[in-house]
Amino acid sequence: MQKFFKIKSGDEDVVLPEPKRVGSVSIEEAIESRRSVRTFEKKPVTIEELSQILWAGQGEINEAGKRTAPSAGATYPIELYVVVANVNGLKQGIYYYNYEANSLKILKKGKFARQIRKAALDQESVENASLNIIVSAQFSRTESRYGSRAKRYVFMECGHVGQNIQLQATAIGLGSVIVGAFRDDEIKEAIGIKEDVLYVIPVGRYKSG
Ligand SMILES: Cc1cc2nc3c(=O)[nH]c(=O)nc-3n(C[C@H](O)[C@H](O)[C@H](O)COP(=O)(O)O)c2cc1C
Repeated sequence: MQKFFKIKSGDEDVVLPEPKRVGSVSIEEAIESRRSVRTFEKKPVTIEELSQILWAGQGEINEAGKRTAPSAGATYPIELYVVVANVNGLKQGIYYYNYEANSLKILKKGKFARQIRKAALDQESVENASLNIIVSAQFSRTESRYGSRAKRYVFMECGHVGQNIQLQATAIGLGSVIVGAFRDDEIKEAIGIKEDVLYVIPVGRYKSG
């Protein structure tokens, strides 16, 4: 598969492994077996797996800048951040997913899972996961084209992105849960962003069966 990444990564950025376009689990199997997973093993997720689920959520897939999830008028309001606790090949910290460069930009170094858990009304799944994906939105991008209609579009898009992430995680044997219950300001402060946060998605390994 040809690469279409346009923006080069900075010196400190972590270039992610190329996501795979072929898997061993069918879309039907992933849809059927996806369940919310809230209890995780203390085993690391690999950087290849992280790259795969970020790509499924918001990866760029062609020269026209189209991404893996649909977007109203291709205005693409969604951004992804990753709170890394236990990922092989990555230091603990908070990263921004640069979909164009297929890379991660480190924003903060250190442990943040407990802070995110507290902000998420003390949900254990958040702290026990190997990583949390933070799905945020810049509403103004979609509002500039669709005005007041944009609000519903952005929420719908967040759902598409969350579903892609959960199905991809399922297909590669990882567990995840969509978390919508959190105090917005506390998550924004922890990540260090001003835009709205819509989902927190804990991801990790779990005992199946
Ligand atoms: C918008 C939304 C918000 C949710 N928020 C939470 C949450 O804060 N914590 C949680 O553990 N699960 C949360 N869930 C997961 C649901 O509880 C779960 O999808 C539901 O119980 C159905 O189970 P299943 O995902 O295994 O099919 C949320 C799901 C959605 C779609």
